Amino acid sequence: MLIRRPPPMAASEITPEGVYRRRRELLRLLGMGSLGLLAGCGSADSGATPAAADAAPKAALGPFDTDEARTSFEQASTYNNYYEFGTDKSDPAKNAKNFKPRPWTVEVSGLAERTGTFDLDDLVKPALVEERVYRMRCVEAWSMVIPWMGVPLATVIKALQPSSAARYVAFETLHDPQRMPGQRQAVLDWPYREGLRLDEALNPLPLLVTGMYGRELPNANGAPLRLVVPWKYGFKGIKAIVAIRFLESEPLTTWKSLAPDEYGFYANVNPEVDHPRWSQASERRLAEGRSLFNARIPTLPFNGYAEQVAHLYQGMDPKTLY
Ligand code: MTE
Repeated sequence: MLIRRPPPMAASEITPEGVYRRRRELLRLLGMGSLGLLAGCGSADSGATPAAADAAPKAALGPFDTDEARTSFEQASTYNNYYEFGTDKSDPAKNAKNFKPRPWTVEVSGLAERTGTFDLDDLVKPALVEERVYRMRCVEAWSMVIPWMGVPLATVIKALQPSSAARYVAFETLHDPQRMPGQRQAVLDWPYREGLRLDEALNPLPLLVTGMYGRELPNANGAPLRLVVPWKYGFKGIKAIVAIRFLESEPLTTWKSLAPDEYGFYANVNPEVDHPRWSQASERRLAEGRSLFNARIPTLPFNGYAEQVAHLYQGMDPKTLY
C-alpha cells in the first residue's frame, strides 16, 4: 500500500450535471412520509436522515454529516485502492474505465428469512438513497471527506429479516478475472471478502453506497455497490459487492487472513493502536485546499464517530478491535 499522486480525472467518467440535478430533485420531492411506502419490503426505520433534508443545499447537514472541507471528486475518484484493477493508486481509474457495472445482481444467503438473487435496485432501492458526508480514514494514514449516496445498511438488512441465530454479515466482491484484470495475479486471495458483526451492521452509520457527489458511483470507487463504514479503516469498505451472507460465526476477511498481525476483523480507527509498520496517531487529509503532503491532522478515536458507536465495544479490549 504505497502512497502516490493521482493523475487527472477522465472526463468520460463524470456523470452529466443534468442527471445529478434530476436525481436531487427526485430526492427532494420524496418526503419522509413516502419512504415507508417506497421501502416495500419492511421497515425503513434506521435512524436515517430524511431524504428531503439531504436534497437541501450543502449548508443543511444531516445529523451524521461532517462540515469539514471536502475532498474533490477528482481526487476521490482517481486516488484509489482497488486491487482488482491494479495495486497503484492511479490504476483503478484507468483500468476500470470500461467495466460494466450493470446489470448487477446480489446473492443473499444464510441465516435470513429473505434469501435469493436480487436485482441491485430491488435490494438497494434508488428511492431510499440519501446523502451522507463522511470522513474516510485509510489504514495507510491518509483520509478524505466524501459525500456518499446510498441506503443505510440497516434498512437493507432489516428488509432481509436475519434470523435470531445470525450474528455476523459477510460481503463478497465479484470474482471475474475477465472483467477485473487485477484478479489474474494472485495479489490477494480472491474474491475480496469483508464482514461486520450484525449489531455493527445495524448501527445507523454504515451505508450501502451506489453514488457519490450526487453522481453514479465511479467504477474506481466500487460501482455499482460498495460498503462504507465510517468509523473503521477504509479496507472494510468492500467494493463491487455480489454476495451478502448472514452467519453465526465471524467470517474470513481478506486483509486479516493475509496479514493478521497488521489488519484485524474490527479495524476500528484508533490513534492509540499503531500499525506494526507506522503510527496511526495522525493522518494526511486529502481535501480542498490541502494536498497529500500537507501537515498531518490528529486521528480521532473511531474516526470521530465515537458518540455513535463506542457503546458497541463496551467491555472489549481495544487491542482486539484493531
Ligand atoms: N474492495 C475491493 N473489492 N478491493 C480492494 O482492493 N480496497 C479497500 C476498500 N475496498 C479494496 C476494496 C481499501 S484498502 C480502501 S482504503 C478503500 O476500498 C478505498 O476506497 P476508495 O478507493 O473509494 O477511496
